[in-house]
Amino acid sequence: MGAEGNRVRDALNALFDERTAAPAAGADTGPREDLTLPGRAPWRGGLHPVRQVVDEICEIFRDLGFSRVAGPEVETAEYNFTKLNFPLDHPAADMHDTFYLGEGTLLRTHTSPMQARIMEAHAPPIRVVIPGTVYRRDPFDASHAPAFEQIEGLAVDEGVTFADFKATLALFVLRFFGPDAKTRFRPSYFPFTEPSAEVDVSCMICGGSGCSACKGTGWMEIMGAGMVHPNVFKHAGIDPERYTGYAFGMGPGRIAMLRYGITDIRLLYEGDVRFLGQFA
Ligand code: PHE
Repeated sequence: MGAEGNRVRDALNALFDERTAAPAAGADTGPREDLTLPGRAPWRGGLHPVRQVVDEICEIFRDLGFSRVAGPEVETAEYNFTKLNFPLDHPAADMHDTFYLGEGTLLRTHTSPMQARIMEAHAPPIRVVIPGTVYRRDPFDASHAPAFEQIEGLAVDEGVTFADFKATLALFVLRFFGPDAKTRFRPSYFPFTEPSAEVDVSCMICGGSGCSACKGTGWMEIMGAGMVHPNVFKHAGIDPERYTGYAFGMGPGRIAMLRYGITDIRLLYEGDVRFLGQFA
């Protein structure tokens, strides 16, 4: 038994030495690392989904001849309301729950004050889009945020008609939402446009047959719009007998939610990279 044990030990030691011996110079030891494997890419960050939608929308309007401008977030009540034909103490002002900063100073409740600023500073023809943040005293819940994005649009020239307005926005819808998207204009009211409309697009989740995202209607509202009110022209020193125009205001955050099927707006504003990273 002892002799047999020694023989087995010697055989195992010999095999062990063979395996652990330094390879002879020039021997092919085979690859130790696969240099063709892809590396681990560092996290580079990316644009926020709302910012991506803003850029995409502004590019579509750029192709239609609209330039992109920015405006102040701290506004005066005069530009936010008065110059836009909000009658003082009229219930229309209640449409906006305003953060006041002081006497006559506020955080803009919409991007529309830029309509007045641009018309005061530039003679027609005017074609601009104005993306930016707006503020409202809304509770922060699944469908409201106290600060959110809007994109204002304004086109003013001689002979701009309601047909131009409808055609331009319908073309925008086709470019942004795809060739199957349908557009619907519903009568509405804003103090600074007449006539006013709300623009709906066929539901991008169900295609118009009705689902929970569109509450069974087949349509989703994407903007308020209308023909510039003559009083807004007058306040800005533009002759309403000579010039006409249209304006629109849309919510790119809302549009991002519709497009990606996001049901809670807080996801867009809480900055959780596990969520945002999906759009980078
Ligand atoms: N400013 C309006 C809002 O915030 C939207 C709008 C813009 C309507 C331009 C008409 C024309 O609800």
